[in-house]
Amino acid sequence: MTDEIYPVPSDFAARARVTAQDYERRYRASIENPEAFWAEEAQFLQWIKPFTRISDTSFDIADLRINWFEDGTLNASVNCVDRHLPEKADRPAILWEGDAPGESRVVTWGEFFEQVNRLANVLTGLGVGKGDVVTIYLPVIPEVMVAMMACVRLGAVHSVVFSGFSAEALASRIEDARAKVVITANEGHRGGRFHPLKRNVDEALRTQASVAHVVVVRRSPADAPMTGGRDVWYDEALAAAAPWCEPVEVGAEDPLFILYTSGSTGKPKGLLHTTGGYLTHAGTSWRNIFDWRDGDVFWSTADVGWVTAHTYKIYGPLLNGATSVMFEGVPTWPDSSRWWSIIEKHGVSIFYTAPTALRALMREGEGPVRKHDLSSLRVLGSVGEPINPEAWRWFHQTIGGGRCPIVDTYWQTETGAVLLTPLPGAVPNKPGMAGKPYFGVRPEVVDAQGATLEGPASGNLCFRGSWPGQARTILNDRERFSKTYFAPFSGRFFSGDGVLRDADGYYRITGRVDDVVNVSGHRLGTVELESAIASHPAVTEAAVVGYPHEVKGQGVFAYVTLKEGFEETEFLRAEIVAWVRARIGSIASPDIIQWAPALPKNRAGKILRRILTKVAANDFENFGDVSTLAEPAVVEEIVKRRQQTLRKSA
Ligand code: PRX
Repeated sequence: MTDEIYPVPSDFAARARVTAQDYERRYRASIENPEAFWAEEAQFLQWIKPFTRISDTSFDIADLRINWFEDGTLNASVNCVDRHLPEKADRPAILWEGDAPGESRVVTWGEFFEQVNRLANVLTGLGVGKGDVVTIYLPVIPEVMVAMMACVRLGAVHSVVFSGFSAEALASRIEDARAKVVITANEGHRGGRFHPLKRNVDEALRTQASVAHVVVVRRSPADAPMTGGRDVWYDEALAAAAPWCEPVEVGAEDPLFILYTSGSTGKPKGLLHTTGGYLTHAGTSWRNIFDWRDGDVFWSTADVGWVTAHTYKIYGPLLNGATSVMFEGVPTWPDSSRWWSIIEKHGVSIFYTAPTALRALMREGEGPVRKHDLSSLRVLGSVGEPINPEAWRWFHQTIGGGRCPIVDTYWQTETGAVLLTPLPGAVPNKPGMAGKPYFGVRPEVVDAQGATLEGPASGNLCFRGSWPGQARTILNDRERFSKTYFAPFSGRFFSGDGVLRDADGYYRITGRVDDVVNVSGHRLGTVELESAIASHPAVTEAAVVGYPHEVKGQGVFAYVTLKEGFEETEFLRAEIVAWVRARIGSIASPDIIQWAPALPKNRAGKILRRILTKVAANDFENFGDVSTLAEPAVVEEIVKRRQQTLRKSA
């Protein structure tokens, strides 16, 4: 790790929303009296009925409670849209860039408001009401924001599913949430390729009875198969709907959305977020973390299917009435200057992205960057995985011209909002470190025995005390929720991440300590990947681990044992990769498949992943205690095969 420190630029510090002194003072106050702090932050929202109870929380698993502002009522879409109309009806809410250069749209607050209302009326007509779940399976187009806002206008709950997920992955998420309606598009465009989203929905719905209707956005002139009585075109339905829909009053603890994420067991978890606490945390943290001021143009490159987009591309900017850029495509198509051209075109001042993309773009050299004027940039942000100092420096110097603070934001689908970050006007940057706790957040470094460590230390990252943005439960599985997050270290929320804290109180995330791999900033449960591979007819068993990957951060390394009679061929390897893509999606494609005649297990039959992880990282020694191995020869064989493969590819 590096000892470099980049102070807050003095002109930036002078005008920052949160200065170093503010940070110290407000952080202390927020920890000493979290209720007073959050009650004040919650004034940021427009409440229908103001709350009188601030919080009722306990991380004790025998009595787990997470409630914020419980007796208050509000409507999320009024907070995100209606309130900005008097001032901003004609100003842009969304600056959209399509996959193909030249295809763009500007959506004003007034237009956005009207579409939200019309779609809310359409959904009402399709039987959607308070508490019903609507699954949204859309590309990165303005309609995804309209759809989310239309749901919450009705007090309905959105469940956005990443449009890169397969029909099968979509089906399991529809089933778990018992969605009533699906909103999709005829197709999605990415990197010059067209993805048949509606076809995936049709396939998913073959097994799903809960869905009564499908609303289909016409992303392109391409036709899509429509099922009479079930499917409606978005544009036709909106044109026929009334332009005003009365917002529904909901309780602060009523559900706002569900978002699925991978965990260390096979089944994806539907994290449930509620209304008042989440909106308070999203809206206030977004403007502090990005030092937003009216007039800024914000751009988060995240896909709408992830929590990054929920909190900091959609809710954060909308709650603040900010203008944001939305881009449908990929950074490398038609060429690697695409992002930089968009920053120049729209004068983006705050740019939030992921290390994996930076590493990929860094490989293209400075040429594509130099073609564009990036002087509008003021604040840069990174999220989703640890950023290596080399990528950090490139981001800082080549993209930010050395003048923009970088907020390396650490958080999770479960946490709902950022927990660790260097606030840009307050905390000097250390490359590769996710900085300091956000207001109201109490990180703890905890050893394997559960003791909280003080000062510089490394261990398990936990948090003590609730924060309003955190998920309230896993849909349909409260027990899993309490066991996963609150049982490992009593009285604390356990993140699943390893962490290191230095002498200055900065935190560096060292990666997952559970069976989760982080591939290009996407969380994948190894068990989920293993089940997908093992369901292939040729496979007996599979074990998946992460390995260091230059661009993706971690790659997927799969050890696969075949059934008798199947040959270890390149063809079968490709078939297994395609099999996983079809079952989960292309983000889950194994990067390396290593045939293994058997997997190393202990005498109880548990796979010893520790050893497999070492071999995948080409570390063939220091396997630690191997005395529990049932058959030591299995490890020797795996090592031999891996070394052979490496020799062949050298
Ligand atoms: O391992 C941490 C990593 O991403 C995980 C959360 O993934 P997800 O719920 O998909 O949310 C991603 C975006 C909020 C964490 O447990 N992670 C997230 N941000 C960082 C990070 N690792 C290091 N540095 C970060 N800034």
